[in-house]
Amino acid sequence: MAKVIVTGGAGYIGSHTVVNLIEQGHEVVCIDNFFNSHQVMWRHLEELVDRKVPQYNIDLTDATAVDKVFSEHKDAEAVIHFAARIYVGESVEKPITYFRQNLNSMLNVLESMAKYGQKTFIFSSSCSVYGNAEELPVTEATPFGLAESPYARTKQMGEQIITDFVRANPSVQGVILRYFNPAGAHPSGQIGEAPQLEQTHLVPIIMEVGAGHRKELTVFGGDYPTRDGSCLRDYIHVSDLGSAHTRAVEFGLEKAATKSTNNPSIFNLGSGDGVTVLEAVKAFEKVTGQDLPHKIVEPRDGDVAAIFATTTKADQELGWTPQYSLEDIMRSAWAWEQARPSKLKA
Ligand SMILES: NC(=O)c1ccc[n+]([C@@H]2O[C@H](COP(=O)([O-])OP(=O)(O)OC[C@H]3O[C@@H](n4cnc5c(N)ncnc54)[C@H](O)[C@@H]3O)[C@@H](O)[C@H]2O)c1
Repeated sequence: MAKVIVTGGAGYIGSHTVVNLIEQGHEVVCIDNFFNSHQVMWRHLEELVDRKVPQYNIDLTDATAVDKVFSEHKDAEAVIHFAARIYVGESVEKPITYFRQNLNSMLNVLESMAKYGQKTFIFSSSCSVYGNAEELPVTEATPFGLAESPYARTKQMGEQIITDFVRANPSVQGVILRYFNPAGAHPSGQIGEAPQLEQTHLVPIIMEVGAGHRKELTVFGGDYPTRDGSCLRDYIHVSDLGSAHTRAVEFGLEKAATKSTNNPSIFNLGSGDGVTVLEAVKAFEKVTGQDLPHKIVEPRDGDVAAIFATTTKADQELGWTPQYSLEDIMRSAWAWEQARPSKLKA
């Protein structure tokens, strides 16, 4: 059992991870300023795990406030750093905000870790570090591509900072997790994706169309070199990501105990399978038994035709394989779509 400081733990992936960590017997301390999440959701999370979970409402760019939390939890052994601004389009418009927020938050956390002696740092990276990869599927050895946005660049820079940090602080094991396309919701229907800001992800937008909140799904591009001409991505259930983080904490602590010099470790977290936008539409229709209005329009600037992961390394070294299917993703996201309005009421 380890005490884990989780930044951004009230957000989409963070909240599912907090639940999994607690279910697996770990203790959690969360830092989140609810910039893109809801305080009421934290209460649903606490109901789900049937306990109070310490939560600090502070901005991670405030180094003094971050240091204070770490000083109060010197016995924490691990840190998972989710907190970041996450919108690709916004990052193109406001690059300085993204660099300032995402990098300063991370630097403050690393600085406190170095001071208080936590042993492993788990970082939320993204498949966006690969840019427009030439060879598919991408493996962890696929080199960084040209960053398509300042957001992607903050992930590349974040990974480089960790590499330098662990070289200078070899008692800390870095674990870099490159997520592909997180989707779905907790099977309980208690928590799910509920950003304060805009919704840009495909699966929740499909749900909003299904529920009649949007007229139709806009499919950008129908002539890509994929099975049916629509873009292909790798969807991973958010609860599978939750269990991957718990495993990553345990893995990082095991490596710290043996003073491993293979540091940091990098893992792709995807399903290992590509799904096109039109296949995702069909999966929704199969699960719900209702047609999903959609129209195919011109491709969008900056979209890559296809990207999906190999997950062999996570399977072999981390001992993690995803449990949920695309239909599970659709089923849980649909249940969350029905539950969400009442869950977000105070
Ligand atoms: N969702 C995806 O598709 C995806 C894909 C790849 C990588 N990621 C990465 O995973 C991480 C989590 O993503 P998510 O989808 O859960 O996002 P999210 O916005 O739901 O969660 C991020 C949380 O961090 C908090 N936060 C942000 N800035 C903060 C600050 N300065 N101080 C305190 N709290 C702050 C927000 O309030 C939010 O609760 C991010 O680093 C993101 O870049 C997400």
